[in-house]
Amino acid sequence: MDSLTDICRVISQCRNCDLHFSRKRAVCGIGPGNARLMIVGEAPGSSEDEKGLPFVGRSGKLLDQVLSNLNLRREEIYITNSVRCRPMLGKPPKLSEIRTCSGYLRREIELVKPSLVIPMGNSALGSLGFVINRKFDRVTEIVGKVIDHGEFFICPQFHPAAILRNPKRREYFEEYFRKASALLEDLGRMPREEIVRKYNSSRF
Ligand code: URA
Repeated sequence: MDSLTDICRVISQCRNCDLHFSRKRAVCGIGPGNARLMIVGEAPGSSEDEKGLPFVGRSGKLLDQVLSNLNLRREEIYITNSVRCRPMLGKPPKLSEIRTCSGYLRREIELVKPSLVIPMGNSALGSLGFVINRKFDRVTEIVGKVIDHGEFFICPQFHPAAILRNPKRREYFEEYFRKASALLEDLGRMPREEIVRKYNSSRF
């Protein structure tokens, strides 16, 4: 898989786990090949399964609203998922399915080389964990933190579906994206340790 187009071609024909049996369309990542920001979701829902595109349903609308309120343009972001086929009955994907699919995320990260990765929810954290060989705590424990992985920063975020279920969390969701946007501005003009200190301090 030498290019993003190549990855997408492989994903579209993938039969590596049982999720391919029930999918209408596999959903590839989308966005510029040199995006500085990569957002990782969980799995396609019914709208994504119909259209073959990530985040075009209710979660996507919320994500779009929040991004457009900030300085984050969706066209400049690479958006992908931990698994590429819709799990049946809208259930979260199994860990084995996330592991099987994580090779695609690994390759996307290698090719895009983002400066910041935002895994939204536990499935995305699990997938990123397989890619970088690291075990993350649950999202509720580490949401909003800034982690320096060396090649990129990681800012764990709630999944938008969790915000739709519990709108009280929306202000945090917006706040963490605001933080991510500011961090991207600071990148390159501030040492990495200082970024970690600044964005993990309660003053931010
Ligand atoms: N939820 C996700 O995690 N990914 C999508 O693509 C759509 C909804």
